[in-house]
Amino acid sequence: MGKIAWNNAYSVGVEKIDGQHKRLIDLVNDLSDASSTGKTKEVIEKVLAGLVEYTQYHFGTEEELMGKHAYPDSLTHKKAHQDFVAKAADLVAKQKSGNVTIGIEVMTFLQNWLVEHISVVDKKFGAYLNTKGVK
Ligand code: FEO
Repeated sequence: MGKIAWNNAYSVGVEKIDGQHKRLIDLVNDLSDASSTGKTKEVIEKVLAGLVEYTQYHFGTEEELMGKHAYPDSLTHKKAHQDFVAKAADLVAKQKSGNVTIGIEVMTFLQNWLVEHISVVDKKFGAYLNTKGVK
């Protein structure tokens, strides 16, 4: 299964956010490794839970910055976060109950979502933060 490689095109121009995105990419890659190398259900569950936990922490960081700097598109951006958290929670529940394996389809969804969200939604937010002097 393919992995995501960080490159500078993913930078949103804000150091703290870029650092967290790099960590998120590492965690998605860890999940890809765990699922493609036949790790046990328990190991995959743990990796998935770690990814979800860090994702929520990361969304919290961005949302705090949105509030602090009065980001005008915060509602749309937060909705994207909420939709992803709901989808991820569903995935975790299904994986726990043994109804879903982390196959190519699930990994592709996670990878595509992350790359697209960073490249479009987060970049727009990063550009706004730059205008407020946040880098
Ligand atoms: Fe980096 Fe909007 O999540």
